[in-house]
Amino acid sequence: MDYESLWAGAESLLDPAIHPLSNLANISAYIRFTLPDINWSGFYFLLDGVLNLGPFCGLPACISIPLGRGVCGTAAKLNETQCVPDVHAFPGHIACDCNSRSELVVPLHLDGKVVGVLDIDSPIPNRFGEPEVAFFTRVASRVERCLTDNRTIWQL
Ligand code: SME
Repeated sequence: MDYESLWAGAESLLDPAIHPLSNLANISAYIRFTLPDINWSGFYFLLDGVLNLGPFCGLPACISIPLGRGVCGTAAKLNETQCVPDVHAFPGHIACDCNSRSELVVPLHLDGKVVGVLDIDSPIPNRFGEPEVAFFTRVASRVERCLTDNRTIWQL
């Protein structure tokens, strides 16, 4: 994959000057439709110890995930990216789209604290490796900047 070209597209859609919801909606669709073999991409945000469904692109998903549950809750609780080659082998995996076989979840931060996650699902096993972790970590950093610069709107 040409991740430098993909980054140029992602960066152009993540504009710190516009409303965070617009950024999050557009980058979700970009990830879902521009990268191959992705069936779901989107965000969960932490409120009162629960991850709440944010903007996404894919099938309707579970609306709330307790901290520590599933791949998303684990990433948020541990503050660690979760790269899961086989979701069926991940204890407590929450199946929102039964086509998902592998998953990558990157924590999002504000002021050094986890405020949510970026979640990407693939219908093929072992879809995500080091290049994908690096790319989506870069995307997550840009999302964090968009959230930070619009804090009064987003109220995190
Ligand atoms: N599979 C996730 C739940 C979210 S969906 O994939 C959109 C999990 O186990 O946390």
